[in-house]
Amino acid sequence: MDKNKSLFKYNTFGIDVVAKYFVSFSSLDELQNVTATNSFKLEKLLILGGGSNILLTKDFDGIVLKNNIKGINILKETKNDVALEIGAGENWHQLVMYCIDKNYGGIENLSLIPGNVGAAPMQNIGAHGVELKDTFVYLEAFNIRDRKIEIFKNKDCEFGYRESIFKKELKNKYIITKVVLKLSKHSHKINTNYGDIQKELEALKITNPSIKDVSNAVIKIRKSKLPDPEQIGNSGSFFKNPVISKTIFNQIILKHPNIAHYVLDNNNVKIAAGWLIENAGWKGKTISTYGVHKKQALVLVNYGGTSGKDIYELSCKIIKDIKEKFNIELEREVNVI
Ligand code: EPU
Repeated sequence: MDKNKSLFKYNTFGIDVVAKYFVSFSSLDELQNVTATNSFKLEKLLILGGGSNILLTKDFDGIVLKNNIKGINILKETKNDVALEIGAGENWHQLVMYCIDKNYGGIENLSLIPGNVGAAPMQNIGAHGVELKDTFVYLEAFNIRDRKIEIFKNKDCEFGYRESIFKKELKNKYIITKVVLKLSKHSHKINTNYGDIQKELEALKITNPSIKDVSNAVIKIRKSKLPDPEQIGNSGSFFKNPVISKTIFNQIILKHPNIAHYVLDNNNVKIAAGWLIENAGWKGKTISTYGVHKKQALVLVNYGGTSGKDIYELSCKIIKDIKEKFNIELEREVNVI
């Protein structure tokens, strides 16, 4: 176990805070051993995967547990599909690339999402019309209190828009160790409904896209809008797209007829938070070493040397401003620690 370890390298926002203790584990046995020590029971815990969805606002006075469980194995294979068992410490995008290479379909729309496989069910990652829950079968998670592995099937995870039971009732109670996905081997369900993908493929004159074509289009779109965390610190979308009632929406659209939105059902409308933030004048705003990304207003960025507190305070100002201007309450997508 390391003491007073900098977390700079372990969060994509590139925030430099110190953890009192830091330990990584690459197997269930190692995890069992770490959690058996007396000090473990007394300390606060932070479980880290790829560190791509957190904002660290202060030094962490406890143990940071870094999940490095690796491995991609075929659990079951039929003529039509394959069940893959993936270690939670595998990099998500590398898994997508592995699947494209083997012609396993289902997660190509989720190309280039930063972070590790274990974090994917945590917040039901999604992009371009597809969510993790669409291919997810079950996961194995280590119950921190009684130190046993438990199985959570798709239903048990209570997936929602960037939500799961692991962000709510079971927060900090389990460590996800393995994820099982069911992917197609042929006749893939190609999903190009999301506007940008269709446009991208049309520009390339591709009419009958393969999963690789879809993945390439998604990678191109993401690269054109989203900052690469290797170059500019960020955590992807900092806020969620808010869902509001039709009644409130009908009042807002009278004042803002161009508001970017998506009707979910008879009672609910999802609003593009990026549109709200851009139209409130925040897009591209820079305050010394941090600010709002120039090409996608949902993303807050750290150009280097910023504290998590500064970024957090910027997010508070944006939330307050959007409330005042549009009467909509923005919610953060990232975990603020
Ligand atoms: N928009 C603006 N200004 C902006 C950004 C967006 O006006 O600066 C409006 C535009 O009208 C645009 C619409 O919002 O047409 C939707 O924008 P986009 O397609 O970029 O998607 P998003 O709703 O902003 C969501 C996810 C992204 C995901 C994309 C594509 C959330 C919080 N974000 O963004 O996820 O990549 O859709 O599916 O749901 C992430 O979670 O980290 C992430 C990047």
